Amino acid sequence: MQIVKTISEVRRLILHARNAGKTIGFVPTMGALHKGHLSLIRASRKECGFSVVSIFVNPAQFGPKEDYQEYPKDLKRDTRLIEKEGADLIFAPESTEIYPEGYQTYVEVQKFPQGLCGKYRPGHFQGVATVVLKLFHIVSPDRAYFGWKDAQQLLIIKKMVEDLNLSIKVIGLPTVREKDGLAMSSRNQYLSPEERKSAPLLYKNLKNVKRTVETKQKSLKEALKETQKNLNKNPLVKLQYLEAVDLKKLETVKKDTRGKILVALAAFLGSTRLIDNIIIHVGSRKIS
Ligand code: PAJ
Repeated sequence: MQIVKTISEVRRLILHARNAGKTIGFVPTMGALHKGHLSLIRASRKECGFSVVSIFVNPAQFGPKEDYQEYPKDLKRDTRLIEKEGADLIFAPESTEIYPEGYQTYVEVQKFPQGLCGKYRPGHFQGVATVVLKLFHIVSPDRAYFGWKDAQQLLIIKKMVEDLNLSIKVIGLPTVREKDGLAMSSRNQYLSPEERKSAPLLYKNLKNVKRTVETKQKSLKEALKETQKNLNKNPLVKLQYLEAVDLKKLETVKKDTRGKILVALAAFLGSTRLIDNIIIHVGSRKIS
C-alpha cells in the first residue's frame, strides 16, 4: 500500500491500476478512523480491484466556530488500520494541494442542504460537495462509498452525481454502532464519561419513534413531540433538531406522507455535536 500527498502522484497510480483493468473504489474520509469507516473500505475491497482511501480534513466544510483546528488527527494509526483492511492507496494531501492560494470555485447543490444539518451549518454542504467533486475528479472512481450515518450528506452527493452526470456509482452503507447503540463517530472521543453515558439515548429515542409509529401506537407527529420532551429531560443533552423528511425530496413530511421517511436529529452533549438518524416506513404506499 502506498501513501501519497500529491494529485499528480495519485493520478499516476490510479491510471496504472485502471490500465491493468482494475475497477476503482473510493472511500473519502477525514481520518480519525473507526469501524464505520472501515466498513466502507471493506465494501470497496470486496467489490473493486483497487481501493483508494482519502484522508483530508476539509477546511471548507467547517464553520468559523466549529472544530476544524481540534479535529482529531493520527495519520500513523489511520494508515495501520487502512493497511490492515487491504486498501491499495491512501491519498492524504495537505490543504494547499486541494485549495492553493487564490482558490475560488465552489459547488452548490441547491435544495437538499436547506433543512436538517444544513440549516444550522451554513456553507457546510457547499464545502462537502466541493471537496467530494474535486476528489472524484482526482481519483476518478467507478464506485464511491459513503455512510448512512450522514444521511443528508449521502443524499446530497447522490444528487450532485446525478445532476452533473458523473459516471460514479455512489453506495450508501448502514451506520456502524457501539454495542449500546451510539453511532460511531470521530467526535465521540470528545465526550466526557458522563456525556458518553447519555449519548446512547439519541438512538434509543430514534428506535422508539420507529417502533411506535410503525406499530401505529402513535402518529409520527405525536412520537416526535414525545421524543423531543424525553430528550430535553436529560440535562446533558441539548437537542438542536429532530425532524422527519421524505427520502426523495428531503422535505418536511406532511400529514398524508407515506413510504420511507428519514427521522434525523442533531444534539449537543456539552460542546460535542452528534448526529444520528433512522428510516421508518409510514403506511403501505411507497413514495420511493
Ligand atoms: P468522515 O466524517 O470522516 O466520514 C467519512 C465517511 O464515513 C462518510 O461517508 C461517513 O458517512 C462514514 N461514516 C462515519 N461514521 C460512520 C458510521 N458510524 N457508520 C458507517 N459509516 C460512517 O463525512 C466526511 O468524513 C466528510 O464530510 C467527507 C465526505 C470525507 C468530505 O470531506
